[in-house]
Amino acid sequence: MPEADKEGKSYYVDVPQKGKLFFLKGSSELDWGMKNRLARIFNPRDGRTVMLAIDHGYFQGPTSGLERIDVSIMPLVPDADVVMCTRGILRTIVPPSVTKPVVIRASGGPSILKELSDEQIAMDMEDCIRLGVCATAIQVFIGGQFESRSVVNMTRLVDAGLRYGIPTMAVTAVGRELERNAKYFRLATRICAELGAHYVKTYYVEEGFDTVTAACPVPIVIAGGKKRPELDALKMAYNAIDQGAAGVDMGRNIFQSDSPVGMMKAVRAIVHGKEKPDKAYDLYQTIKNKKTGN
Ligand code: R5P
Repeated sequence: MPEADKEGKSYYVDVPQKGKLFFLKGSSELDWGMKNRLARIFNPRDGRTVMLAIDHGYFQGPTSGLERIDVSIMPLVPDADVVMCTRGILRTIVPPSVTKPVVIRASGGPSILKELSDEQIAMDMEDCIRLGVCATAIQVFIGGQFESRSVVNMTRLVDAGLRYGIPTMAVTAVGRELERNAKYFRLATRICAELGAHYVKTYYVEEGFDTVTAACPVPIVIAGGKKRPELDALKMAYNAIDQGAAGVDMGRNIFQSDSPVGMMKAVRAIVHGKEKPDKAYDLYQTIKNKKTGN
């Protein structure tokens, strides 16, 4: 029979149990599994994340820079916090020995040849569990032709994820006809959060982005959008973080750069290292020049 416990100092009877156990905006009332997955996406030290978005093929096929994910993207993974991709790429290209958290694209349907807002949920929660993902991602088309259905798709995915502790990232998709300004993104991000998204991906806007992050009760990460000059992309990432974003989910501005590894490290230096854009740009150039032998 094991020896009975002895009363003593190790009970710390005068020390109250720690009450606040979670760091992420709007997430303190979630269940343990949800929080644990979110804590793998957002670094608990600073509450931020660098997600590498490589899911573009789900509606536009072999996007420039993503033609051979095995060759050109896998070298970037060590400097990302999270890989955001489709289940097809995960199963065919990403080695299961990669232990980075995965956020999986769970919506789809139309290609670039059709109306993009005509999406459906394109993955069962059972498969998300099978793949061990940390969150799902789904497009929401506020103001788009199929706005209502895309919002309901998101709420269904949220409900399915809640059953198993898998968070949902809502992605505010912008149709060609919609103006990208703070007013629009306040509307779109807030709707996603009100209806249950655990965090929201949106676009940075030059004016009033701090009002977008302030009005959204869950964390916001920014997409990079179309490729722009490296310094401009780094300034955008810096400003977004400075104005309340909890990180980036960036694709083209990294993998379409002339030095994807350089950009990956430079973006990381901004998000986690509080580096200024000019210094991060120097880092990008140093890495680029090393590779080209300049
Ligand atoms: C687009 O719909 C995809 O979901 C991408 O993940 C997203 O746009 C982020 O990539 P990028 O930085 O290239 O805009």
